[in-house]
Order: sequence, then C-alpha cells, then structure tokens
Amino acid sequence: MDLIQGFKKRDLSLFNENVFDMLDKEWMLVTAGVENDFNTMTASWGGFGVLWNKPVAIAFVRPQRHTHKFTETFDAFTLSFFGHGNFREALSFCGSKSGRDFDKPKETGLTPITTPIGAIAFQQARLIFECKKLYADDIKSDCFIDLSIDSKVYAAKDHHRFYIAEIFGCYEKLS
Ligand SMILES: Cc1cc2nc3c(=O)[nH]c(=O)nc-3n(C[C@H](O)[C@H](O)[C@H](O)COP(=O)(O)O)c2cc1C
Repeated sequence: MDLIQGFKKRDLSLFNENVFDMLDKEWMLVTAGVENDFNTMTASWGGFGVLWNKPVAIAFVRPQRHTHKFTETFDAFTLSFFGHGNFREALSFCGSKSGRDFDKPKETGLTPITTPIGAIAFQQARLIFECKKLYADDIKSDCFIDLSIDSKVYAAKDHHRFYIAEIFGCYEKLS
C-alpha cells in the first residue's frame, strides 16, 4: 500500500508550491532510519528538480550531524514540512540539539510514522516527501568557483555531504 493514513498522495506533475519559500522560510525535517533507529534534523538548504528523468530532492548534511550517520547508512530519507510558523519550537529544537543527546520526538512531541517505503516521517507534517538516494558526494574546496563561499561557510572544513534522491512519494495531510 503506497498510502500514509491521514494523508493523500500528491501527483508531482501538479505540484505548484513555492519551493524557495518552503525551504528558506518554512524549513523541513530531514529524517533517516527506521522505526526505533532513526534521527531527524532541521534543514533549510536543499533543492527540488528533475535529473536523470526523475523527480529529485537534494539534501545537504554536514558530517558532524548525528543525522549524517543515518543518511549514510540508510537508502532512503524523508523531508517533512509543517507549514509556516507551525511547530517552530519543535523545528528549532531539532535544528539546535543533537539526537546524540536528546530523544527528539519525545522532547518535541512529534510523532514518528513509517512511510510506505519504510522510511520515517512525522504525523504532524502537512507535506512529506519520501526520497530514495541516487547519488551522494561531498562539497569540495577545489570545486568552488566563488571561493568566498568556501572560506565563509566551511571555515571548519566541515563540507556538506549532499544526497540527490528520487522523490518516490509526496503525501499531503488530509484537511
Ligand atoms: C533553520 C535551520 C536550517 C538548518 N539547515 C541545515 C542544513 O541544511 N544542513 C545541515 O547539515 N544542518 C542544518 N541545520 C543544523 C542542524 O539542524 C543542527 O545542527 C542539528 O542540531 C543537527 O542535529 P543532529 O546532530 O541530531 O543531526 C539547520 C538548522 C536550522 C535551525
């Protein structure tokens, strides 16, 4: 069954939301792992597009994040969006505390749910993207054309790992 209870599956060809606003203003939770063994973190850097004839999402995860271990280990991850201003405290918590030190669902009240491909997302989300990894690499100093970004964003040499992933399912909360 490719359904999540309480959500309807959305046809990506009809998706017409402003993804710049979603990422930059609404933020998202990047979640990887399986029931009883997952982690989630807030993210606002990423992308949506088309590559290799597939709908894709791109997530950027710094190596020191606890989430990194999970995005590396598991084949899939989810992106959960909650709506403007909704669950801001929860997203701030997940974006400032580490799953190494805290049980994030317990601390925030967010309820993990298992998606049809066996990934973890959150019941309170308004929109969930299920993503299957296709390609991963690290941002590299040598590859910058605008060198100022490297010194400004990666002074600690903690270059993001990025994951280009096929969007397997997009689910919208039923109103
Ligand atoms: C609004 C916002 C956006 C963020 N975006 C990213 C991001 O795109 N990539 C990233 O690696 N960290 C990002 N972070 C930082 C992580 O969410 C943060 O370090 C978190 O505590 C990591 O948790 P973890 O150790 O449990 O993985 C962001 C934080 C906030 C508040």
